[in-house]
Formats: sequence, structure tokens, C-alpha cells
Amino acid sequence: MSPQIVVGNWKMNLGPTAAATFASQLREKCRPTEKAQAWIAPPFVSLYTVAQQLSGSYLRIGAQNVHWAESGAFTGEISPAFLKELSCTFAIVGHSERRHGLGETCELVAKRTRGAVDAGLTAIVCVGETKHERDHARTEQILSEQLEPVCVLMNGSSLEKIVLAYEPVWAIGTGVVATLEEITRSHSFIREYIRSETSQKCPPILYGGSVTPANFKEIIDLDTVDGALVGGASLKVDLFSELVAIASS
Ligand code: PGA
Repeated sequence: MSPQIVVGNWKMNLGPTAAATFASQLREKCRPTEKAQAWIAPPFVSLYTVAQQLSGSYLRIGAQNVHWAESGAFTGEISPAFLKELSCTFAIVGHSERRHGLGETCELVAKRTRGAVDAGLTAIVCVGETKHERDHARTEQILSEQLEPVCVLMNGSSLEKIVLAYEPVWAIGTGVVATLEEITRSHSFIREYIRSETSQKCPPILYGGSVTPANFKEIIDLDTVDGALVGGASLKVDLFSELVAIASS
């Protein structure tokens, strides 16, 4: 069986010094196993100090975004090659705070995905509907619109270096977690969509949105869930370590 993946998205928290202290505590407490991997995504500027602290450990580090080009005139962007130099093995793309907060389009997210994968990084591709879209029964339409450009750009290429994350926007940072039925329905839809569009086995699908140790056990027990993308609870060493332990049990 493939291991569960628990990813901590630190968002814009923990600068280089604080991140180093946090990472050394995490190294002590957090115990990835054959059954559950622990991946963390610090801010770009903290990757170097975190990589130093975690060198030789089983925790994997990655970035919260990535550009597709190797280098060039792309002000404010970071290339996959730079990330690999800092020991990153993955990058998150299309997080809702970038899609909705900063206007990133589905096409842009697809280009980031393709660039990361071509460079040998795993791309964690986030998808999910807003509350308004859910309330108007548009969840599946939105998931299709977000996944389609990724399938088109990945056409013919292996999806081995892709992980999907279903994160309903209304569940992110709100304390409102999706119901088990909602998670099952959306994950099943995503799985079927990927199969029919690419004729490949669907990559792992993580759930994200207000995951805590209190609600994680029943989420991870769902057959359709392969791990979690965690924001708030990843900023507490104890909570994140507990999530990894739950995924491992
Ligand atoms: P949350 O964030 O766990 O704080 O809801 C999840 C995310 O944004 O990935």
C-alpha cells in the first residue's frame, strides 16, 4: 500500500530564524514511518535554514509555489532548479490563496505543474470550490475547470510526480471541515475525471481544510483519501507530529 502523505503548509509564517528552531523541534518529535510520510513547505526564504536542520532526516521539504522556467526575466518568481538546490522535492501549486487571493488562473497553475514535474519535483496541485460555488451545486464543474488544463498540459506524460489536494475554499482556515460524504464525493469525482481524461491511474489525493488531530482519524480512514494538506495545525510541533502519527496508525 502507498504511504499516506501529511503535508504542512506554513504559508507566510516562520521566517528563517524561527523556522530553523521549529524544524529542529519537529525533527525531534515528528516520526514519519513506512505508512506515513511528513512533508513540510516553509516560505521560500526559510528553505535554506530548514533544509540544514532536517538534513539526513525522513522529513521532506518543498516550496509553496514554483515557476516553470529554469531561470530568466521573471521578477519575484523562483525556479524549480533553485528549489532542488535547496533539497526541495516538491512544490505546492494552485493553492486557493493564490488562485483567489492573487488571481492565478487555471492555465498558470497548469504551467507551474508541468514545469515542476519536468524538473523532477513533485507538484501538489490544489483544487477546490468556494462556498458560493458549492451552494450553487457547481463543485464538480469547478473541479473539472481546474483539472482540465493540468490534464491537457500533462498529456501523454506520467502523472507519477503529481499529488492532488482537494481543498474546499470554505474549509480553509475556518474551522469548518467538509463532511465525510462531501470529501468522498469530491475525491471520487476527481479520481474518475483524471482516469477518463488521461487514461492513467489517478495520483494520490490529499484532503485539506481545517484538518486537526480531532477530525483527522475519520478522514484518513476514508478509502478515497491518501493524506492531508495542513495549514494551521502544521504550525504547532505537537499537532503536526500527532497528525503524522494518526496517518501512520
Ligand atoms: P488549514 O489550511 O489547515 O489552516 O485550513 C489548509 C491549507 O490552506 O492548505
